Amino acid sequence: MAKRRGISVKELNYKKKKLQFSHQDIESVAAKHKTPFFLYSEEILSKNYSTFYEGAKASGLIDPLVCFAMKSNPNKELIKILAKLGSGADIVSGGELKRALEAGIPANKIVFSGVGKTEEEILFALKLPGKGLNSFNVESLEELELINACAKRLKKIARICFRLNPVVNPKTHKYISTGNKTHKFGLLEKDVLKTLGQSHYWSHSQLVGLSIHIGSQLLDLKATKKAIQRLSEVGLKTKAPLEFLDVGGGLGIDYHPDETKKLPSVSTYMNLVAASLEKHFYKKTDLRPRVVFEPGRRIVAKAGIFVMKVLRNKVSEQNHFVIVDGGMNDFMRPSLYGAFHDLIPVNEAKAKHECHIVGPICETSDCFGSNRLLPALKAGDLLIIKDTGAYGYSMGSNYNLRGRPLELLIDSKNKLKVVNKAQDYSELT
Ligand code: LLP
Repeated sequence: MAKRRGISVKELNYKKKKLQFSHQDIESVAAKHKTPFFLYSEEILSKNYSTFYEGAKASGLIDPLVCFAMKSNPNKELIKILAKLGSGADIVSGGELKRALEAGIPANKIVFSGVGKTEEEILFALKLPGKGLNSFNVESLEELELINACAKRLKKIARICFRLNPVVNPKTHKYISTGNKTHKFGLLEKDVLKTLGQSHYWSHSQLVGLSIHIGSQLLDLKATKKAIQRLSEVGLKTKAPLEFLDVGGGLGIDYHPDETKKLPSVSTYMNLVAASLEKHFYKKTDLRPRVVFEPGRRIVAKAGIFVMKVLRNKVSEQNHFVIVDGGMNDFMRPSLYGAFHDLIPVNEAKAKHECHIVGPICETSDCFGSNRLLPALKAGDLLIIKDTGAYGYSMGSNYNLRGRPLELLIDSKNKLKVVNKAQDYSELT
């Protein structure tokens, strides 16, 4: 199928010179709804989830469980769609736990990650009926002590998974690299093993799994391969009857056209996971733990765009600024990480102007792209930021006392639904 910058024509394409996203005409959507807004596609979301899950099964992995990383996009309607498809959740707060349960994700498909779980959050999770969560993914010895003490108080048994710090160096932005000992995440092998002989940690806890998560937006899988080997080796050394091995999230996407060539396909990734686990774990034991995944970005990034309107132009000698109504408070990846996102005009025209696309926020970093070649844009014209379904709305803020933007969903019947209304001034505190 013909492609425009890595996304299939069916998902984002021009029809009679007007940009369409997932069969909807963006200009018509913007005629009914005030900009800026996020626009999501159920079709793309569902397709991405299924590709991931089916890919895991096709590579021969045992009973895979895909726990969607809710921090990437916790919108309730999106989580409901994923829940219906059978997804679990990777959560990092009591808020995400409540959201996952409300959206219909069963507790036994939820993994609770994060270095700073509070006592209140731990008690909330432990009070869930039955066996409760799939696991607490434990990041420190003090956390294990606290979970064990809370479980004792409630006369429960906590299901524990250690997040191993595999001490690897993934190639990614330093802010989202998590797999080395200089990072706050995970436990070193010696600390994992040290706990095993010490009964005070385990009076009301049971080791059921081992996990890793070495970083996000990974396009090179060398460190992933090494980390899975470490996960397997330490898993065997625990001599525990592990129910699962959790390989984390992190599989990247092609934000920039130059990344399309190096983007690992889901099947390449799954085959690597399956081959590494086979070689370093399954071959060496009779245990058959299932495999857990925690993907966020790969499932939801391309299922969303951010639609903005041009407010005005400003020319300062050779610098041409196009000022838009979306700001870094709505979408902060470019300002926080210097991340590249494609900017696409809704009206197709020849690109002939180099300009900087900037928002209204009082920070120089409030810039969605510098020196971009775009058609002439005037006040009222629409422009989208591509690939904003992940770490978009979820990282937004009210900075500059701006209300949070609207979120819209194109559902499976191609109907437009408001899935989170825009905040107005009366809701700002
Ligand atoms: N599991 C754990 C324990 C995580 O910390 C994360 C992401 C994930 C899974 C999901 O990773 P993914 O598959 O989405 O790469 N705000 C940054 C990304 C931060 C990722 C934090 N942890 C960004 O916009 O690039």
